[in-house]
Amino acid sequence: MEETRKSKCDGPGDADQESGHTRRDLMKIALGSLAAILLPPGCRTNPARDREAEAERSVVGIQSIPISTDDLVHLSPGYEHSILYAWGDPIVPGGPSFRCDASNPASEQWQQAGTHHDGMEFFPIGGSSSHGFLILNHESFDDGLIHRDGANPPSAEKSEKGKAACGVSVIEIRRDQDTGIWQRIPSRIARRITAASPMLLTGPAAGHALMQTRADPQGRTVYGTLANCAAGKTPWGTYLTCEENFQDFFKLPPETERQTPAEKRYMQDAALMNQWHLFDERFDYDVEPNEYNRFGWVVEIDPLNKKPARKRTALGRFRHENAAVCLAPSGQVVIYMGDDSRFEYVYKFVSEGIYDPEDHSNIDDLLDTGILYAAEFSSENRGQWIALTHGKNGLDAAHGFDSQGHVLIHARLAAAHVGATNMDRPEWLAVHEGRGEVYVSLTNNSKRGLPGQSAANIANPRNQNSHGHIIRWREKDGDAAAESFEWEIFLLGGEKPGEMSISSPDGMYIDGRGVLWVQTDVASSLLNSGDFAQFGNNQVVAVDPHTGGIRRFLTGPLRCEITGLTTTPDGKTMFVNIQHPGQPSNALTASGSKPNEHGSWPDGESAEVRQGRPVCDRPRSATIVVQRQDGGIIGAP
Ligand code: FEO
Ligand code: CA
Ligand code: CA
Repeated sequence: MEETRKSKCDGPGDADQESGHTRRDLMKIALGSLAAILLPPGCRTNPARDREAEAERSVVGIQSIPISTDDLVHLSPGYEHSILYAWGDPIVPGGPSFRCDASNPASEQWQQAGTHHDGMEFFPIGGSSSHGFLILNHESFDDGLIHRDGANPPSAEKSEKGKAACGVSVIEIRRDQDTGIWQRIPSRIARRITAASPMLLTGPAAGHALMQTRADPQGRTVYGTLANCAAGKTPWGTYLTCEENFQDFFKLPPETERQTPAEKRYMQDAALMNQWHLFDERFDYDVEPNEYNRFGWVVEIDPLNKKPARKRTALGRFRHENAAVCLAPSGQVVIYMGDDSRFEYVYKFVSEGIYDPEDHSNIDDLLDTGILYAAEFSSENRGQWIALTHGKNGLDAAHGFDSQGHVLIHARLAAAHVGATNMDRPEWLAVHEGRGEVYVSLTNNSKRGLPGQSAANIANPRNQNSHGHIIRWREKDGDAAAESFEWEIFLLGGEKPGEMSISSPDGMYIDGRGVLWVQTDVASSLLNSGDFAQFGNNQVVAVDPHTGGIRRFLTGPLRCEITGLTTTPDGKTMFVNIQHPGQPSNALTASGSKPNEHGSWPDGESAEVRQGRPVCDRPRSATIVVQRQDGGIIGAP
């Protein structure tokens, strides 16, 4: 897709002057007067806060709603929503519009919203709560839905459209002061970053022999970012997009032919979901095996700079979920991360350098040097962070690691070697600054305790854990850079029959008032059946970290997952992603002629919020805007 490459990266370099927006504008995200209470990047404890007093009152002021099983979005009384940005919507007004028969070609798709909206961050301009950049991930796509005649027969054009349908969107949005409606606006910053956009590999693994390919013998440049799951935001105003299920984009050897420990560990549960390898041999492992090593990283994108994004290898290679960023008291940057596979690990990165809000001379490489740790949850609710540093803890040539780059490329093997605790699919992490806590959602693990699999352990106490749980911890001395912590299980999914309960916690967001917003992801194939029927469609719940009380706030349409939740600095607008509504049972074989077989949100005949959009029976992932009808702060009493 040469056209994409040129338009994405060969233009004027620094967009500051282009857009009229400055880095200082975006830094107000982290440094403005509202930052301490409204935004998450700090992770210092607040000793002045009286936790006992906090515990006496709930911070959640919403009325719970029942489960739902229909093809609509439902909200607590007093709230309303609108569709902001659905798959196929142009990134700027006047761009190519969505065609309901999915006939937009690849050359239009990369000027439009991708599919499978996931992690998302709002970057206010000048601290505004009515104008900013919204940056969001497009995690995947259903080949059977994005082409007029479905996935088959495959073609080079379909392959290119698929690449353009995933990646990242950067859009500029504004709220009309009179109507309260949010809309995309013309913007020189708005752009798509796709599976074909050039980017750089930086940090210790860049240039390693395992990163070198015929197209890139230096091992330092790569086309595209894939499987962009959840996200993070740095204090210096950049976006972190996290590559998760990259294995599903490659034609890999069958299980019986995987030979090395790395092949076995990094190809687990792979399920090919496209046919790109037929037209682009870098996606064929037999032809170009090292291309596979160039995915599974955290990628840093500067909204104001259209130069190639950077894959930060110091943060390790695994199936990254999100990147929860905060600052240690020293000013070191700390990033909490999960590896979403059964029996994989929780990690954190601690930068060597210090973030100085007054001196940005080191931000270009701040995430390239530091220590990656894996978590061990040991007995008596204590835990420790074990450094994955070459030459320490047995991570040396004698054990198969020739360098720090090698440790990072095979971070899973390194974490296993040092005795990290295997977990029930770590998804999002979130930092609660007010309470000095870090939360991790363990979504589920139906295989725990089965023959040949790890049994329950102290941090993952249930075999065949269908409904998942949430753990939280406090770092020693309130220092996010510490090497030990105290933890507890905060919430067990499915634990309160007949009462408010959830299954498969996934996305998490802690708002400025301290409310923990949890988004669920029960698999489409399990929703509304058997033991999962009690939970209805996937949903957003507001959880009070003081009391553990749960209120159901939003329920989604059929077969979607809910993810990406974030808010404006004033807490009055919430953005939420509805991912894969009406999802086909099999992405590769779904028929192009029956797109609405499992749902047609948001624009099907039954749509409750169409806002002038034409009827369309093809389901589309979308970002929605949630506001209070009285204009108040979301979740407040
Ligand atoms: Fe992309 Fe683990 O969710
Ligand atoms: Ca997820
Ligand atoms: Ca999930």
